[in-house]
Amino acid sequence: MNMDLQKLFESWGDTAKGEYIDQQWLLSKWEVVEGVVWPIEKINLMTQTIVDGIELKKTDTLADLGCGGGWILKQLKPYSKSVVGLDFSQSMLRKAVEFCPSEKLVCGEIGRLPFHEASFDCAISYFVFLNFLDDDFVEQGLIDVLRILKRGGRALIGQLPDQSRSQDYDRAKSEYFAYCAKTFKLGESHREVCQAPQKLFDIEKLRNFLQREGITYELKKSFNPFYCPGAEPVVDWRFDLVLHKT
Ligand SMILES: C[S@@+](CC[C@H](N)C(=O)[O-])C[C@H]1O[C@@H](n2cnc3c(N)ncnc32)[C@H](O)[C@@H]1O
Repeated sequence: MNMDLQKLFESWGDTAKGEYIDQQWLLSKWEVVEGVVWPIEKINLMTQTIVDGIELKKTDTLADLGCGGGWILKQLKPYSKSVVGLDFSQSMLRKAVEFCPSEKLVCGEIGRLPFHEASFDCAISYFVFLNFLDDDFVEQGLIDVLRILKRGGRALIGQLPDQSRSQDYDRAKSEYFAYCAKTFKLGESHREVCQAPQKLFDIEKLRNFLQREGITYELKKSFNPFYCPGAEPVVDWRFDLVLHKT
């Protein structure tokens, strides 16, 4: 169990205010803190990137691993047959219960998922593995995610930062900050910004691991979390790893 990370997310869930329940408040804490709201076009773009990336169908059962407050889970529900959310933070799950009261929500940890083998057609873990600093933890998590997929199933591990493109990420982030500064009234909130740790992925190392394990995979451009008018909807400084259960 990654105790530090769990404590961090426990505290986010507890301090997050109810007024953010229907917003993307778990995605980027600073945006919430500063009152930045994602327009619906941006949310739809992100949803479509995920649906296309994982080739999600109306007949697919889906697990959202690291579902947080259930915001993405709710977005993906209309595209699938059923969704189950899992998170290791009780406080996050309390938010998810408020936000998606009719969905099945489970407390558990990626790496020791409380599901049988071949339980789901699809799984998604979005803005989650980027916080796993330890390579062993990432690898153990990926194998566990594959375990719960049915044959022919797909898992999308989304928003992984590419180590070799971190300068491009920094540039995009500062441009987005500038856009937000013009568009929203930043800095009015008294809430404290809390940063989660972020892993920069060595793609070659990841490829070597996947090949060694005989895992079929694709690397896809990820949705641009700094998307704003005029920006690219997908970027190559973050990538989505799609695993195929063969
Ligand atoms: C940045 S939030 C993203 C939440 C959600 N996927 C979203 O995009 O709105 C990361 C979530 O993953 C959960 N998490 C992190 N590591 C986990 C693990 N090993 N097992 C289960 N949940 C985990 C955290 O508690 C937190 O709710």
